[in-house]
Amino acid sequence: MTDKLLIATNNKDKITEIKKALDSAVVSVLTLNDIGINIEVEEDKDTLEGNALKKAEEIWSAARIPCSADDTGLFVDALNGDPGVYSSRYAGENVSYADNRRKLLEKMNGIPRPKRTARFRTVVCYYFGEGEYKFFEGECEGEILTEERGSGGFGYDAIFLPSGYDKTFAELNLEEKNKISHRARAFEKFKKYLTSISS
Ligand code: IMP
Repeated sequence: MTDKLLIATNNKDKITEIKKALDSAVVSVLTLNDIGINIEVEEDKDTLEGNALKKAEEIWSAARIPCSADDTGLFVDALNGDPGVYSSRYAGENVSYADNRRKLLEKMNGIPRPKRTARFRTVVCYYFGEGEYKFFEGECEGEILTEERGSGGFGYDAIFLPSGYDKTFAELNLEEKNKISHRARAFEKFKKYLTSISS
């Protein structure tokens, strides 16, 4: 079991999901707030790997504690992979999750169901020493609905229907979402790795 892991986020939705996903592999999951570090890393790379590595590296440099940073994007086939790495600011800078969902629904207006396929992809970067890091990735396939359904979750959850389910991510409870989500899958691989190096 790994001792301490600093996760490079203060987003409470993500903290809950990550803590649940790693449970037995890490003794203590710390957040930036927990250790009094306040860093905003600009996500200006054009790949999820680039952003995850940039965040993890900057946070490791400040805290010198093994840390992980993740970056996620929603890749919509009919939009050539948009919003992709720009998912958090699809409708502009400082926009709400609802603004991004609205823009995506508008862009997809008139696109018929079979062509509404999409996937979430998460890349986790584990940074554990100067220049020492590893990536873990997870994907979840699904489709974009034509209107919102459900009030749970965050981000694009209310318009994303995972393949094989009749509930959107926003209609599933956290336990159900954590069984199949992109982030859960990436963190499951990360957890297996942490468990393997400590046994
Ligand atoms: P981030 O890199 O994890 O901050 O994710 C970028 C953007 O993707 C977020 O601002 C959300 O809009 C969206 N996103 C990330 N993870 C999820 C998820 O699990 N469900 C829905 N939207 C998500």
